[in-house]
Amino acid sequence: MILVCVPDRRLAKQEMPDSNKYIPYGRHTLDEDDIQAVCRVLRSDWLTTGPLVAKFEAKVQSLTGADFAAAVSSGTAALHAIMAALGIKPGDEVILPPMTFAATANVIVHQGGTPVFADVDPDTLLIDPGCVAQKLNDRTRAVIAVDYAGQACDYDALKAVCKDSNVPLVADACHALGGSYKGRMIGSVADLTAFSFHPVKAITTGEGGVVTTDSQEYTEKIQQFRNHGIDMDHQHRAEACSWEYQIESPGLNYRITDIQCALGISQLDKLTSWIEQRNRIAEQYDLFFGTIDGVSGLKKEDYGVHARHLYVILLDPDKTRGGRRVLFEELRQKEIGVNVHYKPVYLHPYYQKRFGFRQGECPHAEQAYERMVTLPLYPGLSQSDQERVCRAVSEMLEG
Ligand SMILES: Cc1ncc(COP(=O)(O)O)c(C=O)c1O
Repeated sequence: MILVCVPDRRLAKQEMPDSNKYIPYGRHTLDEDDIQAVCRVLRSDWLTTGPLVAKFEAKVQSLTGADFAAAVSSGTAALHAIMAALGIKPGDEVILPPMTFAATANVIVHQGGTPVFADVDPDTLLIDPGCVAQKLNDRTRAVIAVDYAGQACDYDALKAVCKDSNVPLVADACHALGGSYKGRMIGSVADLTAFSFHPVKAITTGEGGVVTTDSQEYTEKIQQFRNHGIDMDHQHRAEACSWEYQIESPGLNYRITDIQCALGISQLDKLTSWIEQRNRIAEQYDLFFGTIDGVSGLKKEDYGVHARHLYVILLDPDKTRGGRRVLFEELRQKEIGVNVHYKPVYLHPYYQKRFGFRQGECPHAEQAYERMVTLPLYPGLSQSDQERVCRAVSEMLEG
């Protein structure tokens, strides 16, 4: 077996192969600058909403090219705030792909809306604009596209479909910070975009999220929603020398803290280099799996920078010894933290019971789910650890 060499990876020389070390599928990268940035906040007057929230938002805005950014406490909060800003309510339908994390669908239900699943393209696992067009009707109030694994959806096609029906297009780009689509950064392509800063994501704030948009109206609604539906935050009340505030709608506490934003500001400086490292590691996987039978990677479109959040392989069940489950269990036994992203959302019990979804709703997503495994991918993944992963997978293949 020939394993791929990665001569230009900085860590290569100092690596000590450790065959027992646990390799997670994803993890954060932190340096001394990040730690110092957080320590400075801990010594300051502001722990929660202070000056760093606006500074972090300005930095996200400048990275994405969006006119506005509103930071919140998680990617889930970002999606929920978007659904609230769009006024999703009982009787409204929202179209989304089933190949996503629970949060994308749950936030629709929290607003009383009905999730409608459109199947994915079998090669990219991105929502298929043709399937979206088939599901659109006069109850549709939004379409959520998920930039699965870090790759941008086919936004031109999705925008055309949404424009025909005058429906807003939302990007769940929780996997895709730092990615681009036809020369535009993710965050400035859809009408509203949600990002997550959970530790396995491109940058982290511990927990955290942000919404980007070009709409001032949506931004103001999201700013209210993250702060109980109150019309002014404490800084504005202090500036206006007033104790008074109005509750305009029943919002939530989805505020992000200055502690988190200090970390986010420091992490954003390293995003470009981390996306490059993720791409280099993914290309090495592509090269390796391109030479062996029984495993394929997902198709990479050539319309932008892939943020490479996840590296997902699809197994040929006839050529894999014992199939996906055995491969998964054996890799875990070898301390390789493989994962599966995702079981189609509508196959979960709540969605089956509440909405009556059944097997067969989205055949491409279901077929992919049966064959998929997510392999470790993060900026600090060493060459020797990546080789350990490749070797472990290839040992599971027949012949
Ligand atoms: C596609 C997708 N959407 C939404 C979320 C929710 O983000 P968070 O964990 O920050 O709430 C995630 C998190 O894993 C995700 O992968």
